[in-house]
Amino acid sequence: MPADVDYLCQPVRSLSGNLRVPGDKSISHRAVMLAALAEGDTRITGFLPGEDCLATMHAFAAMGVPIERSGDTELRVTGVGMHGLRAPAAPIDLGNSGTSMRLLAGLLAPQDFAVTLTGDESLTRRPMRRVTDPLAQMGASIRTSESGTAPLELLPPTAPLHGIAFESPVASAQVKSALLLAGLYAKGRTEVREPQASRDHTERMLAAFGVTVTAQPGLAAVEGGQSLRAADVEVPADISSAAFFLAGAAMTPGADILLETVGLNPTRTGVIDILQAMGADLVVQNERQLGGEPVGDIRVRGGKLRGAEIAGEVVARAIDEFPAIFVAAACATGETVIRDAAELRVKESDRIGVMVQALRSLGISAVAAEDGARILGGRIHGGVVDAHGDHRVAMSLAMASLRAEQPIRIRDCANVQTSFPGFRELACDAGLEIRAVPGSGERP
Ligand code: S3P
Repeated sequence: MPADVDYLCQPVRSLSGNLRVPGDKSISHRAVMLAALAEGDTRITGFLPGEDCLATMHAFAAMGVPIERSGDTELRVTGVGMHGLRAPAAPIDLGNSGTSMRLLAGLLAPQDFAVTLTGDESLTRRPMRRVTDPLAQMGASIRTSESGTAPLELLPPTAPLHGIAFESPVASAQVKSALLLAGLYAKGRTEVREPQASRDHTERMLAAFGVTVTAQPGLAAVEGGQSLRAADVEVPADISSAAFFLAGAAMTPGADILLETVGLNPTRTGVIDILQAMGADLVVQNERQLGGEPVGDIRVRGGKLRGAEIAGEVVARAIDEFPAIFVAAACATGETVIRDAAELRVKESDRIGVMVQALRSLGISAVAAEDGARILGGRIHGGVVDAHGDHRVAMSLAMASLRAEQPIRIRDCANVQTSFPGFRELACDAGLEIRAVPGSGERP
């Protein structure tokens, strides 16, 4: 449990420079997982050394996978093959990481050993039946709490898993990936359909590791019984971490930033489309490929934003960026309406409830709906707000200091380390003034 930290943010008016944010969280998790199951050695560069991805790394080390780390961001993983994992000596603690827990549920359900997956207060509140129910249909044996949450107790299946055709009620890359990973061990074909296309990093990386995989928007499938061949992975910068700076610069007149080598997978670029629809001066330059994923540099010059309607397919492509979008909406002229985003209620915090409450504390008129919110742009006064231990809420609210009239104190920010080590330092280099102070733990 990290020590309690508050951020004290002074009102500032500038954001500038060339910035490189850390490696993509989704890709870093998957790189360790697939490398562990592969035949041969995989070198991973640009790995995100955030607590979430380190939790995945420690999980595989605990299951006998040799992992050598050089510097912060480079790993060499010696794959143990599809059947080489060993029972860990103790339950695996995945901290705050939903991706680790859901993908590992799929990857470990077919193994011939028992394992328990647990996590922190936030992770043990999040819904797990969305993965455990379809895995049970495949023949897995997984126990959850009464309310369908972790700890997850996985027992070796009584018979080999079998493929299913699953129609997911939610667009979730974690559900899709869990089933594809289980499907590699299953008899026959495992197929997942979803209502909107979720991120497809698993499908791309499986292909790079030599697996035959069907990947179309809204549909992914694998045949069981395939093996993986080690393949080096270069991880691009995380567009979800870039998003704080994209929104911060777009809403700050005079700001000018260039974010370098950002992952531009089309299933992840909704934040660019949304900020452009709000009138942001944002251009993508120097587009190229990095290890099977598109990347580019993003230049943003600050100006005036206007409110927008945000709904439909773009929501899944921007799902992690909504805290930053809420802040941009608070700084825009007119009203922003967000719909079709009920998934925000079950992220690291209830991001609709938490963001609406925080914006209101800062003097903004905002109303929550079950699947979104209405936010009327206005003056940000400053004050005390609570990130509720949610990394993306904390970083988004720090960006509000670019338009605040008074200082903002943000409670409960220690979990920024889960996805963005060095956030405060990078933000301060670019012009923000954020001090980390011991948290009092009190709620505002
Ligand atoms: C992720 C998928 C998304 C996203 C999360 C990372 C992944 O979650 O919000 O931060 O790496 O697969 P869902 O699958 O719940 O939509």
